[in-house]
Amino acid sequence: MKFLTTLSLISILLITGCGSPENDKSSAADKTPGSEFTAFELEHGIGPITEDITISTSDLEKIEKGRQIFDSKCAACHLMTERFVGPALGDVTERRSDAFIMNMILNPSDMARKHPEGLKMLAEYMTPMPFQNVTEEDARAITAYLKHLAEQP
Ligand code: HEC
Repeated sequence: MKFLTTLSLISILLITGCGSPENDKSSAADKTPGSEFTAFELEHGIGPITEDITISTSDLEKIEKGRQIFDSKCAACHLMTERFVGPALGDVTERRSDAFIMNMILNPSDMARKHPEGLKMLAEYMTPMPFQNVTEEDARAITAYLKHLAEQP
């Protein structure tokens, strides 16, 4: 009897211990009804960034590096306050999450071909944003720079 009780206790522990985290995981990865994307992907874009991240704006060296990359690889198409070849980016950090911005920088062709927000932008701007050969670190620095600019009065 004691043995059986222990056994059923163990199985209860096993069921609750292993079952629920997996359920949580699969519900986070569920596609949004009527879409081929998860709720995460709809909000944060598709690409290498699969977590909701918050990029700090306290690293001035990184912000300066972001500014330099932006000037050499992005300014040809993006202004801060006006629409140009692409959207104005001065307020992009208020409109989009850090993960969305990074996925747009790192995976622009899938974003414009598949993601609902990318498709909308492509329809409006009529030019697909090309991948600028930047690393994830570069994209992080550029995003820190854009956030830093948006914080200025
Ligand atoms: C050849 C022009 C071009 C270059 C170069 C370019 N972009 Fe873009 N970008 C666009 C266009 C056009 C869009 C709108 C989406 C589309 O049509 O693909 C866009 C969209 C974006 C968006 C999404 C804006 C929003 O409102 O959600 C971000 C962020 C962005 N670009 C950042 C960058 C960064 C950072 C760089 C440099 C690494 C860069 N872009 C280089 C043309 C460009």
